Amino acid sequence: MSPTSLTTLRLTGSGRLLTPVPYAGELPWAITIQAGRIAGVGFVGDAPPADGVVNLGPALVTPGLVDPHTHPVFAGDRSAEAAARLAGARYDGGGILRSVAATRAASDEALEALVERRLSAALAAGTTTIECKSGYGLSTVEELRALRILGRVAVRLPLRVVRTFLGAHAVPAEARSAAAYADAVVDEMLPAVAAEELADGCDVFCDRGFFDLATAERILVAARDLGLAIRLHADQLTLTGAAELGVRLGAASVDHLEQLDEAGVHALAGSLTVATLLPGPALVLRDRMPPARALLDAGAIVALASDANAGTFGAWGAMPLVIGLGATVLGMSVGEAVTAATSGGAAALGLADEVGTLRPGAVADLVAWDAEHEGAFALRLGVVRAARVFIGGVEQVLPPGSG
Ligand code: NIG
Ligand code: FE
Repeated sequence: MSPTSLTTLRLTGSGRLLTPVPYAGELPWAITIQAGRIAGVGFVGDAPPADGVVNLGPALVTPGLVDPHTHPVFAGDRSAEAAARLAGARYDGGGILRSVAATRAASDEALEALVERRLSAALAAGTTTIECKSGYGLSTVEELRALRILGRVAVRLPLRVVRTFLGAHAVPAEARSAAAYADAVVDEMLPAVAAEELADGCDVFCDRGFFDLATAERILVAARDLGLAIRLHADQLTLTGAAELGVRLGAASVDHLEQLDEAGVHALAGSLTVATLLPGPALVLRDRMPPARALLDAGAIVALASDANAGTFGAWGAMPLVIGLGATVLGMSVGEAVTAATSGGAAALGLADEVGTLRPGAVADLVAWDAEHEGAFALRLGVVRAARVFIGGVEQVLPPGSG
């Protein structure tokens, strides 16, 4: 046994604890942590002796947040494009290629520094597991570079990083045709990504002007055959039926869903594919909101994610805001929104029961908030601070200004 597995830590508190059955704090609680995992949850009086004790007082305590959809590997700034859009220009995703040009021009060091800053901001705001996509490279060399950069930053930071290959994010300007580019994704990029184990999953932006259903299916089947989890940017700008395609292919998640119809809601409700909702970009694009209430009422598994990216939602560390938006603009209860941002995200990443929940056996990732009730995520929209963050039972030193 290693020394750490002999060390137990007891976290105690007298406030609300969002375990699978939320605990309202009539008696002080205790979570016993051993070897980085939760060994037990109960009342302080019943807790076994521990080597160390940390008292979190009356703070709201939740699982560490799980953000299952982000795009952190890019350079350049598209704020002007956002302003133009809000002044009436239409979003057609064309700006992705501007980010691709800036990203290709950036050095590895510059990109690594940007990614590290973005992921550190997420951590400081309570995210302990984060999915990160490539997709601003759009060539074999550049997509592999993005995934390797993510791998290097992941080693330096305590967050758990789940990498997704998104070579099919847009068709690069130099491609002869969309079909020729899809050939490169299937024949060159995917085998290289799988051989080097550079990603856990593969995503496709399936929408008007990007990749059509047949091409998305071809790419995702190839990815699935290589053992990658599959995901889709689905039904964001137009209703294409991508969510139903995802269900049929056994996708881990289908994301966006702003235009989802009733048939899509029912397909998702009868499946294990997670509906990952992204209120941030929907708000910034002044798009309609995905049908969160209908999905929850029908029994679909719902996750909330930031979709932090270069062009449609640029806020890193925004998961507390996203929970608040879940409750205020998506029609979820605050409790449903917190669940979607923790165990929902974990399910989307194939990590259910491992993270995103405070139950025995799970990794001891948790956050004590500068709040006493989860209602604060709605009431204090966007400014609820993570006061203390634990990953694998280890308290993280947060950058000044956070916490
Ligand atoms: O998830 N929808 C496609 N991709 C991103 C936006 C990318 C961009 O505009 O740079 C998204 O919203
Ligand atoms: Fe996205």
